Amino acid sequence: MDSMIHDINLAPEGQLKLDWVRAHMPLLNLIRREMEEEQPFKGKKVAICLHLEAKTGYLATVIQAGGADVCVAASNPLSTQDDVVAALVKNGIHAFAWHNASDEEYHVHLHKALDFQPDLIIDDGGDLVSTLHGERGAQVKNIIGGCEETTTGILRLRSMEKSGALQFPMIAVNDAYCKYLFDNRYGTGQSVWNGINRTTNLVVAGKTVVVAGYGWCGKGVAMRAKGLGARVIVTEIDPIKAVEAFMDGFQVMTMEEAAPHGDFFITVTGNVNVIRKEHLSRIKDKAVLANAGHFDVEVSKPDLNELAASKRVVRKNIEEYLFPDGRRVYLLAGGRLVNLAAGDGHPAEIMDMTFALQALSLKYLLEHRSQLEKRVYDVPQEIDRKVALMKLHTLNKKIDELTEEQEKYLADWR
Ligand code: NAD
Ligand code: ADE
Repeated sequence: MDSMIHDINLAPEGQLKLDWVRAHMPLLNLIRREMEEEQPFKGKKVAICLHLEAKTGYLATVIQAGGADVCVAASNPLSTQDDVVAALVKNGIHAFAWHNASDEEYHVHLHKALDFQPDLIIDDGGDLVSTLHGERGAQVKNIIGGCEETTTGILRLRSMEKSGALQFPMIAVNDAYCKYLFDNRYGTGQSVWNGINRTTNLVVAGKTVVVAGYGWCGKGVAMRAKGLGARVIVTEIDPIKAVEAFMDGFQVMTMEEAAPHGDFFITVTGNVNVIRKEHLSRIKDKAVLANAGHFDVEVSKPDLNELAASKRVVRKNIEEYLFPDGRRVYLLAGGRLVNLAAGDGHPAEIMDMTFALQALSLKYLLEHRSQLEKRVYDVPQEIDRKVALMKLHTLNKKIDELTEEQEKYLADWR
C-alpha cells in the first residue's frame, strides 16, 4: 500500500526519536518481548489514529512486532511529526499523515487508513470511529473492535452507545486508573507547561494563571502552575469539582470574573466556547490563550476574529489578535492542544503506561471478541493492575501483601 507522507528522507531523524523513547518506555519493551513470542496479532490489520509523535510511533512498532500489519493516521494535523512518520514507513508501517494537513487532507488520510481494511483500530478523539459509522458505514461489519485513548473520544462513544449507533465493541482506555491518574494529571500537567514555556519563553512566577476545567487534566495543569509560582484561578461548571479546587488552595470564580485578571488562560474542559466574546471583551492586554482539550473549539476563534481589528503571527505558534482599543491577545498553536501542537506531548515514561494499556487492551479485545457486544467496555481490572505492577517492577519498588489475618479481617462484616 502506498503511504502518504511529507518526506521519506527525514527517516533517520525520526528513527533517533523512536530510539530515544524506546530507551525510556520499559513497559512497552516488556510487552514487545511478550508479543514477539506470542504473535497475538498475526494475520490481523491494525489502524492506529493517534497523535503521530515518537511514543505513538514506538507503540505502532510494538503492535507490528506482535504480528500485525499496521497503518497510522493522525488524530490531529498539528501534532504529526514528519520525521517520525517517515521512520515508521522505513520500518514497514503504512502511514497517511503530514504535519499541518488541511481539513481535506486530514479527511483523506482517515479514509486511506480505512482503505487499509483494518480488523482492529486504536482511536484518539473518535474521528476514525465516527468516519467508520458515517461515510464508511459499509465497513463496520469488518471491524472486530478498538480502543479509545481520550476523554472526549469516550464521551462520543458513550453517546453512540446510548443511541444504539455503535456497531462494534470499544475499550475505554482513558478510563483506566493507570491512564487518567497519570497521563491526564501528571502528563498533561507537565507537557502543557512545556508547550507554553517553549513557545512563549515568558515567566510564569508571580503571574495569574486561569485554568478552565478541574478534571483530571485541569488538576495537573493547575498543580504545575502553582509549582511554577503562579497565582491560580480555576473556573468550573461542576460544583463538586469547584469545591475540590477551592480545597486544593485555588481561587474559584466564573470566567467572566477571571477574564480581567489572567495572564495565562488554559482551557481543558472538552467543551465548546469556554472563552468567548463576553470574556475576550474584558481580557487583559497581552493575555496568553492556550487550549489543552482535545478539539480546537474551547477558545472561540470566530469570536476572536470578529473582535480583532487585525491578526498576525508574532512568533512560531503564536498569533497576536489586536483589538480596536489597543489590547493584544496571544493565541498559542491556533487553539489546538498546546502540549502536542507546540510540543512533543506527554513524557515517555507516562505514555509508556498509557500505551501499555492500549497494547494489552487490544490483545484482550481480539482474544475475547466472541463475548463482546457492540458496547463501550472498561479496561479489565487485571490489565490495569498488571500495568501498575509492571510500573512498580521497572521502578524497582516493592509493596506489601495482605497477610492471611488481614484478608480475613477485611472480609468479615462483624
Ligand atoms: P474531565 O471530564 O476529567 O474534566 C473536564 C472538566 O471540565 C470537568 O470537571 C467539567 O466539569 C469541566 N467543564 C466542562 N465544561 C466547562 C466549562 N464551560 N467551564 C469550566 N469547566 C468546564 O476530562 P479530562 O480528562 O480532564 O479531559 C479534558 C479534555 O482534555 C478532553 O477534551 C480530553 O480529551 C483532553 N485531553 C487532553 C490531553 C492532552 O494531552 N492535551 C490529555 C488527556 C485528555
Ligand atoms: N502522545 C501521543 N498521544 C498522546 C496523547 N494522547 N496525549 C499526550 N501525548 C501523546
